[in-house]
Amino acid sequence: MDRIRIVGGRELNGVIPISGAKNAALPLMIASLLTPETLTLENVPDLADVNRLLRILGNHGVDHMVEGRRFGDSPDASRTIRLSARDIVDTTAPYELVSKMRASFWVVAPLLARMGEAKVSLPGGCAIGTRPVDLLIMALEKLGAKVEIEAGYVHATAPKGLRGAEIEFPKVTVGGTHTAMMAAATAQGATRILNAAREPEVVDLAACLNKMGAKISGAGRSEIEIEGVGRLNGARHRVLPDRIEAGTYAIAAAMAGGDVLLAGAEAGALQNALDALVAAGAQVAVSNEGVRVKRNGAGLSPVDVETAPFPGFPTDLQAQFMALMTRAKGDSRITETIFENRFMHVQELARLGARIRLEGDVALVEGVERLEGAPVMATDLRASVSLVIAALAAEGETMVNRVYHLDRGFERLEAKLSGCGAVIERLSS
Ligand code: UD1
Repeated sequence: MDRIRIVGGRELNGVIPISGAKNAALPLMIASLLTPETLTLENVPDLADVNRLLRILGNHGVDHMVEGRRFGDSPDASRTIRLSARDIVDTTAPYELVSKMRASFWVVAPLLARMGEAKVSLPGGCAIGTRPVDLLIMALEKLGAKVEIEAGYVHATAPKGLRGAEIEFPKVTVGGTHTAMMAAATAQGATRILNAAREPEVVDLAACLNKMGAKISGAGRSEIEIEGVGRLNGARHRVLPDRIEAGTYAIAAAMAGGDVLLAGAEAGALQNALDALVAAGAQVAVSNEGVRVKRNGAGLSPVDVETAPFPGFPTDLQAQFMALMTRAKGDSRITETIFENRFMHVQELARLGARIRLEGDVALVEGVERLEGAPVMATDLRASVSLVIAALAAEGETMVNRVYHLDRGFERLEAKLSGCGAVIERLSS
């Protein structure tokens, strides 16, 4: 199993190119099931989750072709993938595939919309809380599907097709909003989604579906309206930049000190986290090229954050920000409101010398003068990268074990950080 070795204490200086967003690429790839024509996606990150989803889609009959890089392309250029679901050969997504990645459950919506039936295993993914799918099922039922849960599988049928409806989510859910948009795009009549997720990835999926011929308006607001259309066609779409990757490296730069340009990052998708970084003492400058984060010499101030749906502070940056706060001059409170049990990084950060106390959904972080390198274990995707961030500022060597979690969500992490002066290497075994 691969490990990552980091020697802390180096500043980060240079340019980090931001990849296409994993959390946009996954639903966009799934949307290819909605049309027999080709959906071409540019800027798809080369990640374990993307490659796993390609296998899952292949099982349903989706052919894919990865376009080669052209001469002169930078090695950072993410891939262009053509997806073609001309014939759906199987409407079942089996446990062996779905259990490894929660987002793959979302295939239920396009399969149901196009084939009138889908049988999808209850999902897996990161072990952060129970993460149910009741709201996704509720949305499908509102649209007229009959849903049964049998032997760990969700079996949804709509032999006469789906019908537009009003779907009000009692809680903001990104996956629920993706599911509702994909299912309603070709339903008969109009759909209104109330209390919809406003995340940039929802906006990106809606934009792509509209290029495919859907009539979706309001994405990015809490109320989304969808006029059902008979069929969808192929399209070409560029995956938006990964705001979580950008936020992660912004926090890394604030932690290690130095001056880093996050090339291609979109500040608007990251405002809340950037504000928190400024409050902590980093300098942030936004330009056409991206976002530049600097911290020179001065210590870090403690900042309280509370995770919330977009545009609030993202839960996917909570672990990274906590790593930063371990070195602040004072105490901070980090409140997790989205997922229960998303504090698995706390005990690993403690191995590096962090002082953190948990009280329900609040982590109380007492800033310390120094962290010290140690062997640690990656537990989930975002928790793992928080250990990398802490290790950048720790004295001596940190060995991060079980890095396959990192490979699910961070493209060329070691290359991007070492390109800015970090001492970081992958040890394969
Ligand atoms: C997506 C992101 C994930 C991010 C999360 C919140 C992808 C691939 N993953 O996950 O990185 O952390 O949004 O921003 O895009 N819930 C229910 N019932 C449901 C569905 C959700 O109770 O049927 C709850 C969840 O347990 C959680 C909250 O709603 O407490 C938000 O979850 P949701 O937004 O659905 O997360 P995902 O779409 O799975």
